[in-house]
Amino acid sequence: MPIRVLITRDYDEMSRRAAEVVSAVIRPGAVLGLATGNTFLGCYRELVRMHREMGLDFSRVKTFNLDEYVGLSPAHPQSFRHFMDENFFNHVNIGAGNIHFLDGMADDLQHACQKFEEAIRAAGGIDLQLLGIGTNGHIAFNEPGSPFDSRTRVVELSEGTRRYNARFFGSFDEVPTHALSMGIGTIMEAKKIVLLASGEGKAAAVAGAVEGPVTEQVPASVLQRHPDCTFIIDEAAASRLSRVHMGYPELG
Ligand code: F6R
Repeated sequence: MPIRVLITRDYDEMSRRAAEVVSAVIRPGAVLGLATGNTFLGCYRELVRMHREMGLDFSRVKTFNLDEYVGLSPAHPQSFRHFMDENFFNHVNIGAGNIHFLDGMADDLQHACQKFEEAIRAAGGIDLQLLGIGTNGHIAFNEPGSPFDSRTRVVELSEGTRRYNARFFGSFDEVPTHALSMGIGTIMEAKKIVLLASGEGKAAAVAGAVEGPVTEQVPASVLQRHPDCTFIIDEAAASRLSRVHMGYPELG
């Protein structure tokens, strides 16, 4: 199934369209897979606005975040849990017990990953998975070379990813070397997937994912095999696509 591509004028429109897709799946018992990163700041801002102004109700929604650094506590300012608290969870009516996060501080990291997979299954699977994309084509922290059938596990971060994320830390050396990440096989089981990308820096990765060969060297290319995957990307991120993807496809 080819990836549907929705090209927006800019970051703000990308964020609004993404929030609309999220709000359309919100119902009691809905299960959302969430991502962190700059790409999602506008989307979460918009969802918070929809909660405040339109009563969008997260009280019976369950969430699973894609990844977390190993060795950072939830309160650490650079942890993904902290990012989610600051930018989303603290501003909507989501129940604390409905938030599922990988525990990068667990004594037994592999066991923490297994528990996370079991919790996804017990929730009935993920209805909508949000994804960002790395400049190297990674999804979650599945770096190039990650097996397509990988499950949630401990991963080593590539040097490029650590350098890209170093802007949030005091220095490159402070960026953790490992993370826990949902696997590609796990991500592919989500019923619906929406990937967001903004800016020219993501254009090559987007083109590789949408139009390139399906290869483990470009993890996001696996999404070409998903039955319901949409990229919502701004014009800059779309600038290397060779086919014309314009207009507003039905997002279902
Ligand atoms: C974060 C994640 C990563 C990011 C990607 C893009 O939870 O899974 O794959 O989505 O690295 O990050 P930004 O949005 O900061 O460019």
